[in-house]
Order: sequence, then structure tokens, then C-alpha cells
Amino acid sequence: MRRKLRYGMIGGGRGAFIGAVHRIAAAMDGKAELVAGAFSSDPKRSRQSGEDLFLDPARVYGTYAEMAEAEARLPADRRLDFVVIVTPNHQHFGPASLFLKAGFSVVCDKPVTFDLAQARRLRAIVRSSGKLFALTHNYTGNAMVKQARAFVRDGTLGTLRKVVVEYPQGWLADAIELSGQKQASWRTDPKRSGAAGCIGDIGTHAENLARYITGLEIEELCADLSTFVKGRKLDDDGNVLLRFKGGAKGVLLASQICVGDENALNIRVYGTKASIEWHQEHPNELALKFPDQPRQIWRRGNGYDGAEARRFTRLPAGHPEGYLEAFGNIYQEVFRALAAEADGKPLPTDLDFPTIDDGVEGMAFIEAVVKSSRLGARWVKPAR
Ligand SMILES: NC(=O)c1ccc[n+]([C@@H]2O[C@H](COP(=O)([O-])OP(=O)(O)OC[C@H]3O[C@@H](n4cnc5c(N)ncnc54)[C@H](O)[C@@H]3O)[C@@H](O)[C@H]2O)c1
Repeated sequence: MRRKLRYGMIGGGRGAFIGAVHRIAAAMDGKAELVAGAFSSDPKRSRQSGEDLFLDPARVYGTYAEMAEAEARLPADRRLDFVVIVTPNHQHFGPASLFLKAGFSVVCDKPVTFDLAQARRLRAIVRSSGKLFALTHNYTGNAMVKQARAFVRDGTLGTLRKVVVEYPQGWLADAIELSGQKQASWRTDPKRSGAAGCIGDIGTHAENLARYITGLEIEELCADLSTFVKGRKLDDDGNVLLRFKGGAKGVLLASQICVGDENALNIRVYGTKASIEWHQEHPNELALKFPDQPRQIWRRGNGYDGAEARRFTRLPAGHPEGYLEAFGNIYQEVFRALAAEADGKPLPTDLDFPTIDDGVEGMAFIEAVVKSSRLGARWVKPAR
């Protein structure tokens, strides 16, 4: 691959949250450039957003359908290598399926689709298209999360018994959606968010992180969802018990009414020999705890870190890496895959980014949680 990858963006216009994060992450290693976009559901805003980013106006579109049609007609030396989808949840399946069918690889934010049926259909489309599909469960891109997974895989923890994963946020503790707060308004709207609010928005990150570190599959779950804010139509708090295949047990908490908490995604994994503990707001550290030794704090960027943690480290020890770098690490892996594809080489065997299968798993988790809670906290098996 002797050039930068070219990409287009759907969503991420003026005032949007995660689109800008994707642009920073994709630019981090200097391997990709944004050349096209349909940035908003409002064509005028899309054009203005393209101007903000100094894009060629001819490649800034009013709708993603126009964009797919026009971009597919461009010659190979101008054509997009992939598109990034950063629209609200109900607008993932449409562009993802359209661009895959038009021959473009796709990076999409989570949760993968609006519901499980769409996720299954998208899985079939990804497979038949032969194109690459990546899902940005960005927390798995952290170097010390890789280290945590390595401690599970190399047996340091022994046999896993218990997983505690919690994701408390406080920003939806009041009905800010009523004042027009953009990110809150679609997240609390069942027509745009899906069957779940908080559990789809951040519960899926917790589910994905637990599964990524432990390698365990959720066999059954029992959930109690609540809506604390009056008038809100979707859950803003969720407590879930997990039974994993093989016998380990888990507790997953996701909440957006935890006043005072910001983005406190934390995980603890207990085995028969040792346990690990990782906090998203302090991502450069990983605690490793044995019953008969002082607690060890492993820190990112040191020579003692394992090979996987080092592979996903950009800066020397003491220069903090965080949310953006973890996002960049997902892109790093996507770009390795796309470069191999462009060179006609087989995909590297150690590729490490979330795929459509993680997306289906996440949607199965959401549906099972909602069903369990509606049944009065009955045990439910996720239907993949
Ligand atoms: N991975 C993460 O950590 C993370 C964090 C935040 C959001 N997200 C996910 O990213 C997605 C977007 O979330 P957000 O907070 O950035 O939302 P947002 O409301 O800030 O931005 C959404 C953008 O999509 C645009 N849009 C809507 N419909 C469109 C259409 N049909 N065509 C083109 N553009 C359209 C909007 O105009 C807006 O610019 C959601 O699926 C969310 O779950 C992921």
C-alpha cells in the first residue's frame, strides 16, 4: 500500500459527538484521509460540515444514498477504500448494507444496528460482500485491556469464576432531552435508539469488554431495567446477572443516572489464582492481585508489559494514552487489514478489532436483557 487510504463519513456533522473522535483516531497514524461525506440528515448542514473540513464540495452529499451512488462511479484511483458510519442507531443498517453492497468496506459505531433482526441480516450481507466490517467497541483497543486479556489467556488468573463489570454515567440523571440536547434526545427515543436506552448505549460496551477480556460467552442472563427519570420511554439504569458458559458468574451494571460519575467503565475478573482490575478513566494502569502478595500495578509503556500490550502502545511510559489512542488502535488494525486486501495478500492472522459477530452478540445481549426485565427478571438465553 503506497498511498493513504481514502474514506468517507456518514454522520458526524457540526455539533455531533463521535464523528470527530473517529476523524482524530483515523488520522492518528497518518495512514488515511477523509475525502467525502454525507454528514447530516440535513443536506445544508452536511454541506457546511464539509466546508468546515475543507473537503471538495463535489464529494459532500445531501444524503448517504446519493453518496453511495456517486462514489461507486468514481475511478479506482479516486474511489473510497471504506466508509465510517457515525449516525444514531436507527441509521446504521441502511448505510452499512448499501455501501457493503456497493463494494466498500465499513467501519460502524455501536450498537451495530437498531435490532437483532437487522444485525443478523447485516451479518449475511457482510459475508456475501466479502468486504471488511469493523465495529468500534473502542475500549478493547486499550493496551492494558490487551494485557488483561493476556493474563486470562496465559493462565495467570487460573480458572475464571467471576466477572464484575460496571459502567456508571451521570449525564442523563435529569431529563435533558426535553431541552433539545442532541445526544440525549435520540438516545431516549425508542424510534431512534432501539429497544433499550442505557443498556444499548453503554451496556453493550460493558458486555463487549467482559467478553473480550475473558473470552467467555454469556449463556443466560437475568435483568432488572429501570427508568428513573419521569416521562422517559427507555431504561436509564440496568442491573444484570450473568451466567457464562463453563460456569463462571457475572454482574453487569450500566446506568446513566449515577450522578457524579462521568464515564466510569470498570472491570474486575476473578480466577482461582488471581484477579485483575481495570478502570477506563485510569487506562494506563492494570491491577493484578494475588491472595498472598502485595497488589501489582502494571503500567502501560514499560518493558515488562506483554507483547500484545506493547503492540498497542504509541508513547513511552508516563505519557498517558487514553480514549483517543484506544480508538486509534482499532483503526490501526482496520488499516492493516485494508492494506493487505489492497495488496492482494492474505489478511494477517493476528488482526484485533471487533467485527460483525461482536455486533450480533451485542444486539442479542440487548434483546435478552429487555426480554428478561419485561418478564419480571426471569433468566433468558441470548438468541444469536
Ligand atoms: N464508541 C463510542 O464510544 C461511542 C460514543 C458515542 C457515540 N457512539 C455511537 O455513535 C453513534 C452516533 O452517536 P453521537 O453521540 O455521535 O450522535 P450525534 O447525535 O452527536 O451525531 C449523529 C450525527 O449523525 C447525523 N445523521 C443522522 N441521520 C443521518 C443520516 N441519515 N445521514 C447522515 N447523517 C445523519 C446527525 O446529523 C449527526 O451529525 C451512535 O450509534 C452511538 O451509539 C459510540
